[in-house]
Amino acid sequence: MTARRRAVALRSLLLIGLVALLAACGGTDIEERPLDALSPDGPIARAQDDLWRLVFPIAVVVFILVQGLIIFAVIRFRDRGTGEMPKQIEGNTRLEILWTVIPALILAVIAVPTVTTIFELDGEPPVDERLDVTVVGKQYWWQFEYPDEGFFTANEITVPVDTPVHLHLDGTPEYEMPDGSVQPDPEQDQLVLHSFWVPRLAGKKQYMPGSDRFLTIQADEPGRYLGNCAEFCGLSHANMRIRVNAVEPDEYEQWVAEQSQEAESFEGEDSAAARGEELFGVNCVSCHNIDGHPDNQGIRIGPDLTHFNSRPEYGGAIFDVEDDEQLADWIRNSPAEKPGSQMQPFPDLTDDEIDDLISYLRTLD
Ligand code: CUA
Repeated sequence: MTARRRAVALRSLLLIGLVALLAACGGTDIEERPLDALSPDGPIARAQDDLWRLVFPIAVVVFILVQGLIIFAVIRFRDRGTGEMPKQIEGNTRLEILWTVIPALILAVIAVPTVTTIFELDGEPPVDERLDVTVVGKQYWWQFEYPDEGFFTANEITVPVDTPVHLHLDGTPEYEMPDGSVQPDPEQDQLVLHSFWVPRLAGKKQYMPGSDRFLTIQADEPGRYLGNCAEFCGLSHANMRIRVNAVEPDEYEQWVAEQSQEAESFEGEDSAAARGEELFGVNCVSCHNIDGHPDNQGIRIGPDLTHFNSRPEYGGAIFDVEDDEQLADWIRNSPAEKPGSQMQPFPDLTDDEIDDLISYLRTLD
């Protein structure tokens, strides 16, 4: 290596180190760093973060020690061209006991809080103190069911603060149909792996088709907590976001009351919304549920749209719900807007028909 090259290499190393150091700076503000796993905003995430805060410094000390010794040995005992072998030390009982006992002690120190935390987090919050939400990972959006309240949302859940939210990641989803019968999810055979991750509220939990998994999340303060699918699940894995809206208990009660209402029907009227409602009955009810729609079939292949307009985003929470133009493009050809979207294109709908459909969707608050 020439002196010039060495200087360049050294400078690059320093630069990388500096960037890494600066990346660790900045506030812990939720607006600034919404996906920061090291800024817990609830007791579950905090228990996991506490563990990390214990293990990480130990790991850093061990890393520096081991790497330092390696660098020392490489330099100190390098081949100086004399052909001499350095002193061999195999069979040194004292050394061997030492480097077995020290790591064992370190691991024991780490194991106690780790195992305790695992058991703590594995426990289920008491039924009368928690909110139950059933989660199904679809391609590529999240379905949330409030089984006790009796409604569904997509991509976004609203929860009360300071309340454990017990998520059931349901790998064998089934639904109650309008006639009272229970049917398996029509897409059950096509479910794939996902991972539910809202970094400020808890660690990841894998969604597994065919099995039941559970995760508790809890938020200290009101706020909108962001998350993302964290397991590669196909073309739009990156377009499968999660929003957790934590609100004060009275606001939550009000939200539940609103979400429990059926959609308004415009049957028989002569308006854009009425025409949209009719078009919805022809084109959309075979995949989307809207409680209160006259032709509703109770099918939830796509997201439940009963309160579509109350959610700020749609399509895996990547599109702004208020953008009419984007919504028109989405209805016309959703796979062109989001790779791998399972919603079929509707090339035969005219611009007027799409406007009518949007007018109807706007009533779904
Ligand atoms: Cu769902 Cu990645």
